[in-house]
Amino acid sequence: MCGIVGFAGTEQAAPILLDGLKHLEYRGYDSAGVAVYSPSSGLQVKKAKGRLEVLKGLTDDGRNMEGTIGIGHTRWATHGEPNDVNSHPHLSQDNKIAVVHNGIIENYVEIKEFLLSKGVCFQSETDTEVVAQLLAFYYRQDGDLMMSVYRVLHRIEGAYALGILCADTPCSFIAARKDAPLLLGYGKGCNFIASDVTAIIKHTREVSFMEDGEVALVTSDSITVFDALGRKIDKEHSFVEWDISAAEKGGYAHFMFKEIMEQPDAVRKTVAPRIKEDRIVFDELKLDEAYIRDMKKIFIVACGSSYHVGMVGKYNLERLIRIPVDVMLASEFRYADPLVDEGTLVIVISQSGETLDSMAALRKARDLGARILSIVNVVGSSIARESDHVLYTWAGPEIAVATTKAYSTQLVLLDMLGIWLADICGRISIEEYSSLLEELKRLPEKMEMILKNTEDIQYFASRYFNHDSVFYIGRNLDYALGLESSLKLKEISYVHSEAYASGELKHGTISLIENGTLVIALSTFLPLFDKELSNIIEVKSRGADVIALTTCDMAEELKKTVHNVLCIPRTSLIFQPSLGIIPMQLFAYYVALQRGCDIDKPRNLAKSVTVE
Ligand code: M6R
Repeated sequence: MCGIVGFAGTEQAAPILLDGLKHLEYRGYDSAGVAVYSPSSGLQVKKAKGRLEVLKGLTDDGRNMEGTIGIGHTRWATHGEPNDVNSHPHLSQDNKIAVVHNGIIENYVEIKEFLLSKGVCFQSETDTEVVAQLLAFYYRQDGDLMMSVYRVLHRIEGAYALGILCADTPCSFIAARKDAPLLLGYGKGCNFIASDVTAIIKHTREVSFMEDGEVALVTSDSITVFDALGRKIDKEHSFVEWDISAAEKGGYAHFMFKEIMEQPDAVRKTVAPRIKEDRIVFDELKLDEAYIRDMKKIFIVACGSSYHVGMVGKYNLERLIRIPVDVMLASEFRYADPLVDEGTLVIVISQSGETLDSMAALRKARDLGARILSIVNVVGSSIARESDHVLYTWAGPEIAVATTKAYSTQLVLLDMLGIWLADICGRISIEEYSSLLEELKRLPEKMEMILKNTEDIQYFASRYFNHDSVFYIGRNLDYALGLESSLKLKEISYVHSEAYASGELKHGTISLIENGTLVIALSTFLPLFDKELSNIIEVKSRGADVIALTTCDMAEELKKTVHNVLCIPRTSLIFQPSLGIIPMQLFAYYVALQRGCDIDKPRNLAKSVTVE
């Protein structure tokens, strides 16, 4: 939930750290800080509440901090309110050790009490400060920093990615990881650590991913990695395929808008390499056919928008494969008693591959004997590495907190998986298979058609942006689409909104409809078009203002009842949400724009939720 970057080299460290933090701000943006060391000024720490710009101002973009080695942090507060003191890096009482941390130290109260009893004074309310103070405490006893780091790691419980800089060993810093992402970057005459490759991609594309329990010693010319027992290990290096332009705005006002516009390409990149000679081919999946045919059940677990992909998946996979598909929020699954066993394929969906609840659900499912297949965007992320099988969505880096292109690529990949499984199970006819494949190939071009024509969406956003409550209604796939549409609107525009299965309205919610209530009626699931029309009439007759979404061929029919109609091209039933979501993302975007919201960094949110 926070972002960490570290640099050791020959250039001035602080400007490089601040630039790295700029690319990590999506992970947390309520405060930021850096610690650098120089022989003349010693260990210097600058930190500030607020956006990174505040820290940049304070340090003249890093220029007024000398030194060629340092660590930086951008925070999403968990323990202690966002303020200057609670910001990272945290210093030990003797000002020798600076620590940045992502994660939560669960037993920090007990450690703090222990240290207080030893006369250590604390400055902040954070869990992280105990790491700095405990490390200094052990270091005073051991006189060997690495040994003391291991003692600390054995004592603390919880999740962490740590960067540690000590004034006594100023040519190196130490990194450690458990249940929070951290990667190592190998540059020319310099080396890095980072929570995410976007922070360092400008300097190097050669990285390796730290595993739980590993500790790294980083200098300007080497990175040495040790396992949990302190034994030196060799790390496999990976090469990041995309370049810096993918992680920058490139002339767009917001990352979110850029990422909405990138969807056709992202879907193309996800789909095209997996279609060979008119067959879906998952070279990367080593699932044997006998297992697939014996599979009794599929369980999808995920959070937020990824969960909404799972909701679409439930309808589509059951329709295609004809076996039960359950979908559960990962945060519920991990504490429930789910019916999962060896015959269950558990699909974990996650853009970041680091969401803590999804990770915990994965581990629970694995312990129950299930096979784990994950659909993940970030290569080398924890969820990808812990899964039996991985399908990557090739969406490229997604920076805006509100997901768009990752959602779209997850959706299409899950649909492809459904078709592939249905084919192996012999549950799909040759004709249906071919027609779905044809439509799949045409999806990017149909997405482009929607993106070229956004005037109506902008118009409706400008007309309705000041409504303070919006209802999304729909049936079947449109209900699942409504869940995601509603989340998009509320997370970036702060407009209260709810998504309801249209048939549920009269079981309570319709009492909220009054004159002028905005209802967005999703009517793209054509087998239930008439049913949805009845629901539209119900809410209209109670005074609702309705915007309806349907396919272009049904627009005229709908206009007989509804004045405000948006339309999307027709595609196969199962892919219709992939098109339907685009106007809904744009509607949320334009509403948030009209309301003057901070679209890429909505309040209280962060991109990657690595805490519970
Ligand atoms: O990285 P993940 O896909 O696991 O993230 C799950 C949710 O946190 C994420 O989808 C969140 O709901 C987004 N802000 C939605 O736009």
